[in-house]
Amino acid sequence: MNILITGADGFIGSHLVDYLIKKNHKITALSYYNSFNNLGWLNGKKNKNLKILSGDIRDQDYCLKITKNKDVIFNLAAIISIPYSYLSYQNCFETNTQGAYNICLGALKNKVSKVIQLSTSEVYGTAEYTPIDENHPKKAQSPYSASKIASDAIADSFHYTYDMDITIARPFNTYGPRQSLRAIIPTIITQMINNKVVKLGNVSTKRDFTHVTDTCRGLYLLMKSKRTKGEVFNIGSTKYYSIKQIFDTLKSITGSNVNLEIDKKRFRPDNSEVQILSCNYNKLKKVTGFAPQISFKDGLRETVKWFRDNPNIYSRHNIYNI
Ligand SMILES: NC(=O)c1ccc[n+]([C@@H]2O[C@H](COP(=O)([O-])OP(=O)(O)OC[C@H]3O[C@@H](n4cnc5c(N)ncnc54)[C@H](O)[C@@H]3O)[C@@H](O)[C@H]2O)c1
Repeated sequence: MNILITGADGFIGSHLVDYLIKKNHKITALSYYNSFNNLGWLNGKKNKNLKILSGDIRDQDYCLKITKNKDVIFNLAAIISIPYSYLSYQNCFETNTQGAYNICLGALKNKVSKVIQLSTSEVYGTAEYTPIDENHPKKAQSPYSASKIASDAIADSFHYTYDMDITIARPFNTYGPRQSLRAIIPTIITQMINNKVVKLGNVSTKRDFTHVTDTCRGLYLLMKSKRTKGEVFNIGSTKYYSIKQIFDTLKSITGSNVNLEIDKKRFRPDNSEVQILSCNYNKLKKVTGFAPQISFKDGLRETVKWFRDNPNIYSRHNIYNI
């Protein structure tokens, strides 16, 4: 199959490229255009079945071109940092929402057989009940969440209006090698390896973590199944941990004796903070047989090793958004 993956230069996207190449699919991988020829996590990747593009999903003409002759599209390209979304609502909306529209429109015009639109558990807001199933109400507690609720609705509208085969995949927190420092697990690991103190914000929030290989397996199973048209599927593990529990587990894995310092600057606005997310993935299990295969401890050990093996992978500059 000819598969287009947007956001392929990113964390989950680059793992999905690897996963699908191993399954012998032909991949067109979209990286985010920049003038440095930086392909993110696609840098140096070569395979006869991989074609790398550089472009921008905010550009409708461009999306009409890259969606030609594709059987399946995974739309992962997004602005995903919640703190950044407070500062740059417009970029978040144009990329996540307008971008999803551009991809759906391209898929419609070019008769693409199946589109898998990446949503996020953040669309649910703080859990009203756990574990959260796909019928849980949505609550836009951040600009990021709002942009994803809107992109889910756009995907739905293309399905209902044009009978397109669109599936919404809704991963809960994903972690593993190559994740950027804006995510909690890399933030803890890199500080633990390099500093004497780990500075964190709210450590009582609880999240459901899935290893990136399990998330990719879930996405692959959704692609293969004939029973996903117009449906939403959570991808997660059901087990959830507080940030403090993760800090303690990582401390024991790394053998570190660092101290934890609560940094008020890292707190999100009270009503924007999602307190607990826990995934009910029964629907995905029923339709595809999915179950996560990598335990949280094993996944954390592998992730710690990766950050130790790649100490200079992320810039040590202080980078400010404003
Ligand atoms: N990481 C998680 O825990 C998680 C959980 C749920 C859902 N998701 C969803 O999975 C997808 C991938 O997330 P990720 O964690 O790999 O993030 P990521 O930031 O590593 O990847 C997103 C990629 O999108 C690209 N991108 C941004 N703007 C673009 C544009 N205008 N045009 C083209 N490309 C652009 C970026 O270059 C980036 O590499 C996102 O849609 C995200 O909402 C992630």
